[in-house]
Amino acid sequence: MNKNIVCIGAGYIGGPTMAVIAKMNPDRKVMVVDINADRIAAWNSPDFELPIYEPGLEEVVREVRGRNLFFSTDIDSAILECDIVFVGVNTPTKMFGRGAGRASDLQYWEATARNIKAISKSDKIVVEKSTLPVRTAAAMSSILNCPAMPGEASDGPRFTVLSNPEFLAEGTAINDLLKPDRVLIGGPQTPEGEAAVAEIASVYAGKDGCWVPRERILTTNVWSAELTKLAANAMLAQRVSSINAIAGLCEATGADVDEVARVMGADHRIGAKFLKAGPGFGGSCFKKDVLNLVYLCETFGLHTAAEYWYGVVKMNDHQQERIVTRLFKEMFNTLANKKIAVFGFAFKADTGDTRETPAGRVVRLLNEEHVRISITDPKALSNAKRDLADICREGLAAPAPLFVDDPYEAARDADAVLLMTDWKLYPNLDWARIFASMRKPALVFDTRNCLDDEKLRTIGFKVLNVGK
Ligand code: UDX
Ligand code: ADP
Repeated sequence: MNKNIVCIGAGYIGGPTMAVIAKMNPDRKVMVVDINADRIAAWNSPDFELPIYEPGLEEVVREVRGRNLFFSTDIDSAILECDIVFVGVNTPTKMFGRGAGRASDLQYWEATARNIKAISKSDKIVVEKSTLPVRTAAAMSSILNCPAMPGEASDGPRFTVLSNPEFLAEGTAINDLLKPDRVLIGGPQTPEGEAAVAEIASVYAGKDGCWVPRERILTTNVWSAELTKLAANAMLAQRVSSINAIAGLCEATGADVDEVARVMGADHRIGAKFLKAGPGFGGSCFKKDVLNLVYLCETFGLHTAAEYWYGVVKMNDHQQERIVTRLFKEMFNTLANKKIAVFGFAFKADTGDTRETPAGRVVRLLNEEHVRISITDPKALSNAKRDLADICREGLAAPAPLFVDDPYEAARDADAVLLMTDWKLYPNLDWARIFASMRKPALVFDTRNCLDDEKLRTIGFKVLNVGK
């Protein structure tokens, strides 16, 4: 078995993960391949205009690209050259047929597995990096290891399928990869399975043990690994929905959700993290993974469990509807033709990613009310334009949203500023200048509770928060 690694899929997971694997394993050649030629060209761009924004990523790519990290569209040659294949292709929520709106669409994954089988001439370890429903590894193993003809002995290459889910969060991906809480590797409990797990563990240990300490590399059976990823994301999403459910109650009773969270979080059994009330969770994982869990529960007849987890998504949607309802009430029950400046479109700070962003849903709800919307964001404006193309067409009754780089310009003549993403630059803006340029009464709705509301009130703003 050679030490070369290929990762199929150069996305948010594949790109950063392989860059760090290459950094910590200078003795291994790491290839990242993708069918999307534009994406590969961006990873290879001479001035490092990488396809995703992630703090610290550019430095790592500068260090290893061309040394032992290579990006290419030549998927077949890379598979031939490597005995370790990570698969990081996308597994979006299926929008058709059985399980529509809940299950994962596995067609890209299956196509990849079939291609690996067709190309390979030597035994390989195939590692699931995408989040996949429980028991996908078994399906993949049967596709990869089945004989070409019925009844024929399979004397071709053998494939050992492992699950190695990624827990990195966007915005902190490089740090999460360099210093992970844990690395999880699930494998079959057979001699080949155990050998494959040991090989992948040695990748994460790094050259001469320079990377993840052994006690943080946790090994389980394949099913546990697959389920752990879904369960961990569902638990985190559930915490966000739980604190948002408390936030509504705080608004109704005069309690302050940040105080409640602070004191609750001081109990070490509860812990302080993931208790920040806000506009609801976004990102490519949480909703998809919770819905996946719902589908799995339903498939196994666990209907009450399915309903329980579905509540997490329902609560999240409700949180965004509540934001619009509160704006409506505060702005005299009519929003038509008023101007609202949306500060931040990314699903959280420090990323340009807008997948499932709460801002997207809120903007659409405001657009239905014929609000004049101006959107500003330091990193996500081009994704915002792409996501909202359907409501930016000419000839629609509702005014098309505008996309504005400068937040001061976005807020000019606005009736309200709606802060959706907690970018660090927003608390440091000159809010007196913003106030002077807005229509009065001027409202700020800070859905992330990150601005100094006392200062804003002194300037003359009306201020709304979540959970206060
Ligand atoms: C998440 C998981 O954290 C990560 O382990 C997994 O691999 C992928 O999914 P990510 O989606 O990048 O990572 O972001 P995360 O930081 O978890 O935030 C998710 C969403 O929850 C964001 O929209 C964020 O604003 C929101 N959130 C998070 C809150 O509203 N309140 C909180 O207290 C924490
Ligand atoms: P993630 O957040 O899971 O990394 P992304 O959507 O960012 O997901 O990235 C997945 C990548 O996988 C995309 O760049 C897509 O072009 C790529 N991809 C999908 N199917 C295939 C395939 N059959 N072969 C190679 N790459 C693929």
